[in-house]
Amino acid sequence: MAKLRGLIWILVTYLIGTSSARDYQCSLQENQLCIFRSVQLSSADQLNQVTFSSAGSSPRNVKFESSSMVSIPTAVFKKLSSVETFDGGNSGIKNLMSSTFMDASKLRELNLTNNKISLLRNDLFVGATKLNVLDFSQNSISEVQENAFNGLKQLKVLKLNNNQIANLSPNVFSQNTALEEVDLHGNSLSKLDDAQFAACSDLVSLNVSHNALQKFDLRQFLRDWSVDSIDVSFNRLKAVSIPKNLRKLVASNNQIQMVESLGKDPSLIFLRLSHNKLTSVDQVPSFNKLITLDLSYNAIESFDFSSVTKYRNLILLKLDGNRISTITNSLTSDWTYLKYVHLSHNQLTRLDMDVLRTLPRIITLNLSYNKMTEFSAKKLSDKFPVLVRLMLEGNDFRCDKIGELVKELKYAPTEYKSTAEQCKEGERLLGGICCK
Ligand SMILES: *[C@@H]1O[C@H](CO)[C@@H](O)[C@H](O)[C@H]1NC(C)=O
Ligand SMILES: *[C@@H]1O[C@H](CO)[C@@H](O)[C@H](O)[C@H]1NC(C)=O
Ligand SMILES: *[C@@H]1O[C@H](CO)[C@@H](O)[C@H](O)[C@H]1NC(C)=O
Repeated sequence: MAKLRGLIWILVTYLIGTSSARDYQCSLQENQLCIFRSVQLSSADQLNQVTFSSAGSSPRNVKFESSSMVSIPTAVFKKLSSVETFDGGNSGIKNLMSSTFMDASKLRELNLTNNKISLLRNDLFVGATKLNVLDFSQNSISEVQENAFNGLKQLKVLKLNNNQIANLSPNVFSQNTALEEVDLHGNSLSKLDDAQFAACSDLVSLNVSHNALQKFDLRQFLRDWSVDSIDVSFNRLKAVSIPKNLRKLVASNNQIQMVESLGKDPSLIFLRLSHNKLTSVDQVPSFNKLITLDLSYNAIESFDFSSVTKYRNLILLKLDGNRISTITNSLTSDWTYLKYVHLSHNQLTRLDMDVLRTLPRIITLNLSYNKMTEFSAKKLSDKFPVLVRLMLEGNDFRCDKIGELVKELKYAPTEYKSTAEQCKEGERLLGGICCK
């Protein structure tokens, strides 16, 4: 029966579709979702003549599938005025006209991802004052007019990622005071105003990664309540200032040489600064709550373990891919917070585990891909009782220098062994360590 009904629907849609005034009827699913299939609107004429309807009660959720429309016909919201969520992703939409959302007074979520929209014009959303979520990701937007988002006082989530936006008016978000989450990654922004998000006092998450930002002042987020996460990675920033109320900052793949902390008692717990131009751990100021610090792939040449005392709660420290050739330790008492230390791909030629003597709670130590010819680790299991992983592959160990080490490791609880495949040409495996 259902099948037969479906067949008739298709037939009806087809018959109507071939006449000049088309009526598309959607098929009602569960959750008050009504799906329009194979809507084809390729010219202004077709847009003006089309009507939309649903069988039974007016649907709350509307979705377009396998459709292609140059624009969203205003008739949609005229006819289906109780629509709360509108999913028109993937529908070839190029153009949004000014009055499109005039009758969309119940609309809360608008998803237009993966279309071909290039312009968001002024006052586009007049009528849609209840909008909470806007998804314009993966379009070709190159222009967002200053008043495009006017009237959207309830907008919480705005996705504009993967477009071609090169600049944004400083006032473009000035009415969007409820914004919590903004995604602008994958555009061509070279700057953002110092007060770009000044009106957005509820903002908790911002992603501006993969743009061309040379400067972006995070001071505008400095306030007494917290901001969860800001991602500025893959830009051209030379400096970054971290407001005290920010909890997570991803700033990898920039040209950062300067890091500043704004305000007292910072709440930062996660900081990623990999692939930048820092030359010393000391360029990163003190963050008392920091748990993860990623400084891999910078230009750091030496490291002293006393630096970590600036980060009272630091558990994971990543220093891989630097130019570290010397490691020292001027700590005079035990430091038990730090548990994971990554030092692979550096320039270490030798290391004595004694340098970690004041860090007895180390769990993982990654020393792979250095240039170590020797490595000493006396009383390993006594001094480092919880060291469960020691990565040593990719070094230049001399077989005649590691006899002691092999003996020591044999009785330690530490997992360390390489496999023969990990050995370089001309090397052999001695007690699980590649050497020649
Ligand atoms: C929009 O729809 C796509 C699928 O077409 C989905 O992946 C995405 O999460 C939706 N956006 C929002 C904000 O829900
Ligand atoms: C920001 O967007 C990029 C690109 O999709 C993604 O990889 C990254 O995880 C996002 N950042 C955060 C903090 O979610
Ligand atoms: C150790 O470092 C190497 C090189 O960066 C990496 O491939 C490997 O996954 C790391 N091992 C662990 C257990 O983190």
